[in-house]
Amino acid sequence: MKLLDDIHHKLTALERQHLRRQIRTLDTPCSPHIRIGERELLAFCSNDYLGLANHPALVEAMAEGARTYGVGSGAAHLVSGHSRAHALLEEQLAAMLSPWIPQARALFFCTGYMANLAVTPALVEAGDTASKTSGRAIFADALNHASLIDATRLARDADVIEYAHADVAALGAALAGSAAGHKLIVTDAVFSMDGDIAPLPALAQLAEQHDAWLVVDDAHGFGVLGEHGCGALEHFKLRSEHIVYTGTLGKAAGAAGAFVVAHASVIEWLLQRARTYLFTTASPPAVAHTVSRSLALIAGSEGQQRRAALQDNIEHFKSRLQTQQWRLLPSSTAIQPLLIGSNGAALAAASALDRAGLWVPAIRPPTVPSGTARLRIALSAAHTHHDIDTLCDALAGAEQETQ
Ligand SMILES: Cc1ncc(COP(=O)(O)O)c(C=O)c1O
Repeated sequence: MKLLDDIHHKLTALERQHLRRQIRTLDTPCSPHIRIGERELLAFCSNDYLGLANHPALVEAMAEGARTYGVGSGAAHLVSGHSRAHALLEEQLAAMLSPWIPQARALFFCTGYMANLAVTPALVEAGDTASKTSGRAIFADALNHASLIDATRLARDADVIEYAHADVAALGAALAGSAAGHKLIVTDAVFSMDGDIAPLPALAQLAEQHDAWLVVDDAHGFGVLGEHGCGALEHFKLRSEHIVYTGTLGKAAGAAGAFVVAHASVIEWLLQRARTYLFTTASPPAVAHTVSRSLALIAGSEGQQRRAALQDNIEHFKSRLQTQQWRLLPSSTAIQPLLIGSNGAALAAASALDRAGLWVPAIRPPTVPSGTARLRIALSAAHTHHDIDTLCDALAGAEQETQ
């Protein structure tokens, strides 16, 4: 009983601080226009940036994958769960990233969270024998995603040095001051709650200069950034064999799963050591089959059109919002956060939008630092200008209501 009392107190405290989260159940597929029970809502909350999550060709690919491979993999990849669909997808991902990562090989994971949990601990462990005397250090951006933070927690025996968000000078000083023999820089490529893009060319340069490796989590850039949707590395035309690149497939790619692309030897090491790869059932081959189709769309003319439509929507939104008082964070990506500050005010703004038939999530700590609660507006190629105008009109109304 004591534990239940403690839980009850903690839940009440969360409620008081406007931090209690609630789950909503959708009755329609992921799309800008959704229904929850009887309520129709215009949604700006998914990471389906290209509008592929309910694309007819991908729905068909999932059905075809299930007919071909069944619905379950039956085992972990290294036992018997690795199907031809997984292998083909990994080849496709490696080919896509090979202009940016020499000797690229790919490893498919069930989720981005699991991919990130795999990479940092395995890379830290790999540095063990080479640098036993001089130690290992991880240099992490202060606004990294929870999965990267948890990965550093799992990387035993490494010093973790957090540098100020996107602060190249601070990172340079931290690297210069470190005596560690094995160094890893770990960063989001597109920051999930701010929408800004990490200064990857400068980070890669520092990595070369200080003999460090650079782990890049491109969950929100893969599919969206770069002419062919290859992500942040293509966006910056950045090529390095010291980059370990993770991407997720449940966001712009519209399906599920994630991957790591790196030098073939790094991937071979992950295959031996990554616990979130070794000790979990492989995701259904039908998912890999679907993602393969999605990657073909992303790399082709349809992907290009969708990226152009998304860009157009981003520009339309930003220009419409210029006349309002909201504090829009400086983001050029599909993630357009409005900084509010207090948890209560962010919730009040989200509720005002909800009453107007819009779903825009209020993001609060611990997802963002305390005092920086915000509305996270996520735009998609599937939104129309009319959808965005509706949002901006509702934001103008909410502004008056909440200020
Ligand atoms: C930056 C970042 N990395 C990793 C993840 C985890 O990816 P997944 O949803 O595939 O687990 C997310 C969000 O979910 C994210 O925002």
